[in-house]
Amino acid sequence: MTQTFGQTDLKTSRIVYGCMGGAGAFGAQEERDSIEALQAAFDVGINFFDTAEAYGAGYSEQLLHRALGDKRSEMVISSKVAEKNVAPDDLIAACERSLKNLGTDHIDLYMLHWPNREVPLEDSIGALKQLRDDGKIRYYGVSNYGTEDLDAALALGEISVNQLPYHLFFRAIEFEVQPKCKTAGVPIMCYSSLMQGLLAGKYRSLQDFPVNRARTRMFDHRKWAEVVHKEEGAEEAGQELLDALWALTEETGLSMEELAIGWLKSRKAVGGVIVGTRNGEQSRGLKKLLDVELDASVLKALDDASERLKQELGKDIDMWGKGRTR
Ligand SMILES: NC(=O)c1ccc[n+]([C@@H]2O[C@H](COP(=O)([O-])OP(=O)(O)OC[C@H]3O[C@@H](n4cnc5c(N)ncnc54)[C@H](OP(=O)(O)O)[C@@H]3O)[C@@H](O)[C@H]2O)c1
Repeated sequence: MTQTFGQTDLKTSRIVYGCMGGAGAFGAQEERDSIEALQAAFDVGINFFDTAEAYGAGYSEQLLHRALGDKRSEMVISSKVAEKNVAPDDLIAACERSLKNLGTDHIDLYMLHWPNREVPLEDSIGALKQLRDDGKIRYYGVSNYGTEDLDAALALGEISVNQLPYHLFFRAIEFEVQPKCKTAGVPIMCYSSLMQGLLAGKYRSLQDFPVNRARTRMFDHRKWAEVVHKEEGAEEAGQELLDALWALTEETGLSMEELAIGWLKSRKAVGGVIVGTRNGEQSRGLKKLLDVELDASVLKALDDASERLKQELGKDIDMWGKGRTR
């Protein structure tokens, strides 16, 4: 089942397949698993695939072509230009490379991956408009744009998407940017919807989370080796939420993924919920996430359980606290 994506004419599944993990972002990854994961996601009914030139330096885009090139006409593809390539000539060259990697003549939705303070935004948007007018991309948008950046982008062009980190462990966008997206009619694509696996029902304790994933602002910089921010985190509130989620799985009979994704599907302005998998078996599990809808009482319980963490982490939408967003 598909929906119309925001103000575009793209018909998309509400679950978007995220291609980053398949290119090795989470560690060693067998290529055949990545290919099977992509094909199985398509087979369960997902037609929307999100990638970026930054994922494996083009490898993720190439994998998508190899796995599903023969299904291109049935797919909607989003990709992103890396922050370092947003000067006009670089951006156009990056898009040409992505088209080649993807084995296609157009990208449906093309985003500026992160804000870049060195290149005037009007120059980047000008290049995106040129790509659209040339038929190389259908629509363009942004990713990781807070209210100030989004206002600037909206003043310059027709922004068809804002891709943002959003999940039960990270509700920062709710303070400002989500209401702005709703008012402006800009659909949100949520990323890290399963908090890189923490919301996939594999961990009883935050302390068991892999160190290379425990990098978000929730984690105390004094305890975790790969954290780059300097915040004390909110681990007590995070553990309280994790405990509440486990209790809710028992009360409702739903899996943690169903709770996490069902909640996101109900949130304002959400046009797509991105989920990444590592193999075919995990992708077959996405079928139930396409179908899940939660009762109002379960949604309320999830709101309540995650409220303390939301308040403690506050409104900075950079999930890793690198100071890149505003
Ligand atoms: N715009 C941006 O700046 C940005 C940033 C980050 C991500 N993204 C996008 O968002 C996508 C997804 O986000 P994410 O990669 O951060 O991760 P995610 O979707 O939150 O979590 C992915 C992880 O969840 C686990 N998982 C998924 N399905 C499962 C299942 N059925 N059973 C058990 N475990 C399951 C797997 O963990 P294991 O690896 O442990 O098996 C998988 O690697 C990316 O691929 C990318 O497209 C965008």
